[in-house]
Amino acid sequence: MKIVKTRDYNDMSRKAANIISAQIITKPDCVLGLATGSTPIGAYKQLVEWYEKGDLDFSEVKTVNLDEYKGLPRTNDQSYYYFMHENLFDKVNINPENTHLPDGTKEDAKAECEAYEALVESLGGTDLQLLGLGHNGHIGFNEPAAEFPKTTHCVDLQESTIEANKRFFASADEVPRQAYTMGIGTIMQAKQILVVVSGEDKAEIVAKAFFGPVTPEVPASILQLHRNVIIVADEAALSKV
Ligand code: GLP
Repeated sequence: MKIVKTRDYNDMSRKAANIISAQIITKPDCVLGLATGSTPIGAYKQLVEWYEKGDLDFSEVKTVNLDEYKGLPRTNDQSYYYFMHENLFDKVNINPENTHLPDGTKEDAKAECEAYEALVESLGGTDLQLLGLGHNGHIGFNEPAAEFPKTTHCVDLQESTIEANKRFFASADEVPRQAYTMGIGTIMQAKQILVVVSGEDKAEIVAKAFFGPVTPEVPASILQLHRNVIIVADEAALSKV
């Protein structure tokens, strides 16, 4: 694991965007695994700026997102589909047909998860997977559990995750209770993994996940076993390591 310490959120965002840019420049038809949440927003903003300056070309880039709430229509501004369009896809020259997220409107969880897993495989896996880190150590929506889930599956969100995400909804009651997410196995197949983390509220979980034992109780801890992981985190997030 390579840990890159940054001054603050903006510095973290620029450095993460630099790593993603390097991937796009060296492999214009790369497969990017993308993440939502508040942490990657600054990196997406930076990529859009570089695109507008003519420094980046997304025309051949393919993307697969980690996860999506189950039951939210794509037009809901809290769906990850909406988030990705708002923060990146609608602002760069990416071909919408090359962008993929699990379809949260599909009722048949088994069929949707199998189809998504097959899609990631048919693209040859991801070249670079971007990840945020949940306060309980979740990656994508892989919540702490007794074992590491291997493939794309439907999860029941934990109370702490619903609490953390309720700020985006009118009330906690409106936060969906389930989501479709890539499995830990799907994530670990990425050729390179880039984790972005910011803020003191993540300091404890950063210490546990990247310096503690590898356990499914802290899903992100599995990343310690991946051969090519870069963690770009600000000083506050690294204050307990
Ligand atoms: C969400 C997402 C994750 C994200 C995490 C952290 O629930 N499903 O993919 O990494 O929580 O979010 P944030 O970056 O807002 O702290």
